[in-house]
Amino acid sequence: MENVEPKQPAGDGSASGYPNNERPVTRRSFGKAIAGGIAGLIVAGLWGLREWYHRRLAPIRVIAETNEIRVRGSKIFQYPTDVEPCILVRTTETDYVAYSRLCTHNSCPVFWHPEDNALACPCHGGLFSITNGAVLQGPPPRPLPRVLLRIRGNDILAVGMSNT
Ligand code: FES
Repeated sequence: MENVEPKQPAGDGSASGYPNNERPVTRRSFGKAIAGGIAGLIVAGLWGLREWYHRRLAPIRVIAETNEIRVRGSKIFQYPTDVEPCILVRTTETDYVAYSRLCTHNSCPVFWHPEDNALACPCHGGLFSITNGAVLQGPPPRPLPRVLLRIRGNDILAVGMSNT
């Protein structure tokens, strides 16, 4: 079926042929706008579902004691399962961060490099920010997934994962 644009009024002097250059909304343009909106909602919904899945299903587990690691030191642990390596870094006297240890390029394990204030991947030179896991250099396509932490007394708990 042929999609026919509505007839345009003529002779009013405007560039588009419509009064005040206001084009009427066609069924096609309206359908495109609705489809775009629905696609955006689906993408946002899937992203939210993925985040919820990672946070909801990850166990709460003690991964270290607060005085176990010196300032600017690190500890390797497994989370959320026993075969998923992660790294905990004590960045200041009171601050800790943790990330998946699997490089987002080809899954080589990353190492803490205090001199660069970054997590480094030895395989292809990937470098990740210790602040937020963002890629600083190299081929990794995404930031490192972050392990969500909570301090309870002298215990450091892993309470979930976040990909943001
Ligand atoms: Fe880490 Fe390639 S596997 S940079």
